Amino acid sequence: MIQQIAWFLTVVLVILIGIIFLIIALKAGRRQDYQPIVEKAYRVRKYYFISLVLVMIVITAISLTNLPYSDHHQEALASSDSEIIVDVKGYQFNWDLSQEEFIVGKPYRFNVTSTDVNHGFGIYDEEMVLLAQTQAMPGYTNPLTITFKTPGTYKILCLEYCSIGHHIMIKDIIVKPDGGVQ
Ligand code: CUA
Repeated sequence: MIQQIAWFLTVVLVILIGIIFLIIALKAGRRQDYQPIVEKAYRVRKYYFISLVLVMIVITAISLTNLPYSDHHQEALASSDSEIIVDVKGYQFNWDLSQEEFIVGKPYRFNVTSTDVNHGFGIYDEEMVLLAQTQAMPGYTNPLTITFKTPGTYKILCLEYCSIGHHIMIKDIIVKPDGGVQ
């Protein structure tokens, strides 16, 4: 859905830029006084600046509130002994997990590292919404806690460009309903 909106907006803006370019190209031959144009442009510039700042504030507010960090920060702070440890190794171009099946409602702590270069460890749900992410770095172990809320086939995607096979660094994990096999 968001991808479609982004795609549509891009096309509209490209067409808009094309139209503006055409208008300027058609008007370019005409002789005009310089001073009035400058005054008008300076007035427009002020409003243009204000609207750009407003757009940036709105976009920043929306995108920041949609980030999954604060939830997970709280979860990490409230971490307990009941957490199930999952060891994760990222390497070009795959993920090694000590387990690939999970249960809804159980708290997991992914201990994420890398054996070669930096990768990004991102957990996506079935709608491809990013639920949690951390860096996979050689020489470091970064913890990421998560409690899955709904069963399904989730995906782990690499979120950091790590050379030619970056895009194939995908692993499916299964989240099963609590109570085991149904
Ligand atoms: Cu690993 Cu991109």
